[in-house]
Amino acid sequence: MEALGSMIGTSLPSHTKFISMSPNCLTIRLASRDVLSHCKVPYRRQVLTKTFSGSEVVLHKARSKTWGFECRCSAQEMESYVATDNTSRSLTQRKRLAVFVSGGGSNFKAIHEAAKEGLVHGDIMVLVTDKPGCGGAEYARDNQIPVIVFPRSMSSPDAVSAAELVATLRNFEVDFLLLAGFLKLIPIELVQAFPRSILNIHPSLLPAFGGKGFYGLKVHKAVIGSGARYSGPTVHFVDERYDTGRIVAQRVVPVLADDTAEQLAARVLHQEHQLYVEVVSALCEDRIVWREDGVPLICSRENPNKLY
Ligand code: GRF
Repeated sequence: MEALGSMIGTSLPSHTKFISMSPNCLTIRLASRDVLSHCKVPYRRQVLTKTFSGSEVVLHKARSKTWGFECRCSAQEMESYVATDNTSRSLTQRKRLAVFVSGGGSNFKAIHEAAKEGLVHGDIMVLVTDKPGCGGAEYARDNQIPVIVFPRSMSSPDAVSAAELVATLRNFEVDFLLLAGFLKLIPIELVQAFPRSILNIHPSLLPAFGGKGFYGLKVHKAVIGSGARYSGPTVHFVDERYDTGRIVAQRVVPVLADDTAEQLAARVLHQEHQLYVEVVSALCEDRIVWREDGVPLICSRENPNKLY
């Protein structure tokens, strides 16, 4: 229910189980007392009526930016609901992204390229780094993307504080934050300011080989040393700890008998670039929905009923 509220507003029925939205359709599953109704309607039509065995669901646009719908479970019972449509901006406008890097920034470049090619419905507005001389920061400057240094430290006295970073990202009207090899812990202020809006990519199959100290080649050395036969990247939402937020997507790669950490890292990184672009693309198209237990799922673009 919380997820529904955050997506389309208020006053949703207690028996609404799930909703997903794409540019072309709104999908609602209503689990009424005696009937499960699954209603898929073209988005933003004036009046739509769908009838199901034992129940009737009517969807209509009550006024601009408002969805109204009525659910009849039987002739006697009728419940009406109104949900404010906050999605007009999100569905039509490109999302505004901030990327955080500490290193070479190959994932950052992959997302930037994908945005330029139209594979991602969003634009990178700003780069945040703790290492202003890193490859990612250089790439940003070469591509006229503003660079912000965070956090403040002895070596970066001119960097911004957590509160200033939140304010700056708000000024940039950033929708989503994408961590791509950013080594510092994200402060709680940022996590709270951007709920369900911060992603990270990690080069192992979380929850294995994650947490403080598991970064770079250390991850791959630990994987090889453990005897695990499979590894691969994980994209997850970010909470206030290292690598513990909810998992959105993973890819599996084999760990070969004679792998070095460098070889495994290269194989995983190749998949990272594809996986991160795929997830960011879904994020920018509002195709990530939240299961009742808090697990994020991706809604297929081709088939909005398919979740993975
Ligand atoms: C990647 O392996 C990513 O999974 C991890 O840091 C590395 C960043 O690589 N979080 P790059 O800077 O994107 O090349």
